[in-house]
Amino acid sequence: MFDESPQRQTPDSLMLPGFWYRALPADRVRRNRMQKAMLLEIPLVLGRDPQGRPFALQDACPHRGMPLSCGHFSGTQLECSYHGWRFDAYSGQCQLIPSLTADQKLKVDRIYAGSYACEEHDDFLWVFVPEPGPTGAGFTRRADPPLATPRVPTFSDKYKLAYLTADLPSSVDHGIIGLMDPAHGPFVHQAWWWRTRDSIHEKQKAFEPIEYGFRMSAHTPSSNSAPYKILKLYADADSITTTIDFTLPNRRWETIRAGKYWFSSLTTVTPITRSQCRIDVVAAWNLFRWMPFGADLLKFVFAKFVEQDRKTMEDQSEGLKHNPHLMLIDDADRPAKWYFQLKQAWLDSRRTGEFRHPMEGPVTLKWRS
Ligand code: FES
Ligand SMILES: [Fe+2]
Repeated sequence: MFDESPQRQTPDSLMLPGFWYRALPADRVRRNRMQKAMLLEIPLVLGRDPQGRPFALQDACPHRGMPLSCGHFSGTQLECSYHGWRFDAYSGQCQLIPSLTADQKLKVDRIYAGSYACEEHDDFLWVFVPEPGPTGAGFTRRADPPLATPRVPTFSDKYKLAYLTADLPSSVDHGIIGLMDPAHGPFVHQAWWWRTRDSIHEKQKAFEPIEYGFRMSAHTPSSNSAPYKILKLYADADSITTTIDFTLPNRRWETIRAGKYWFSSLTTVTPITRSQCRIDVVAAWNLFRWMPFGADLLKFVFAKFVEQDRKTMEDQSEGLKHNPHLMLIDDADRPAKWYFQLKQAWLDSRRTGEFRHPMEGPVTLKWRS
């Protein structure tokens, strides 16, 4: 009934290219300024032009590797601080090599700095990390991403949006399985205003496979869930349903609906390096429009939760330093097993061209939490 979790992974299997990732909160990147970021161990420099349009380049000059963030940004071009080569911020295409004389015929426009598709959605700058490795570095223009950027689901014209972000000192795998782990709630998320350990009880949930992931089928939310406690103030408890999805590479989607009211969130755990990740929660809702401090209240509740998870992972990282053997048990760790299996299926599909979903059909899991 228990498996060794696939802990000893190579960095290539740890961090999956071929997906959009949240690179930075949008408000950290200002016009006419450069901002460094790290994503899947790729150093990036992000910025915005005078119109606010964001871009992302690899933070290494294709000439001799100087970080482009050490240079100057004119608003549309980056100039390397070492030999003054200039690159277009959006395409990475080289515009100027100052050392060339008039009779030297080097084709400057065939040289490219590594460039990444970058889009702003729902308070974040998203960057597409292509496979294999960064295309566009050296002598090719980058291709357009084959996938659309993920968006926080919304169900009415007017709504509020807020985000939370926290750095986690663990590999992306530990961050993600911590996010999906149903059994830590009573121990990690205790608070007098929330719940006590005594509220632990048996639960049974139906799961089903979805594209590149799995869904906890629509159900009445756990009586311990934060948005549920708040939604009960608005709607009949029986009318409230929630759906929680996990999809590769790192996304947890939660939607709660109660009549015309709704709350939804897209949480991601983004690999920064092989031993560091970051959790970003973006929530949207149409509750509290009449309540002056409603949004702050919700943010307060979420911030507490995220901080409890962050502290737990910080402590856990001590224990993980020396690579101990670990185990995953049924049923509480089954979502974690599915995560590892989905990841492996995705990696296999890069070779075979066919994605074989590890779940054959709906499954019911039971645990106490
Ligand atoms: S290293 Fe950038 S111009 Fe030479
Ligand atoms: Fe948690």
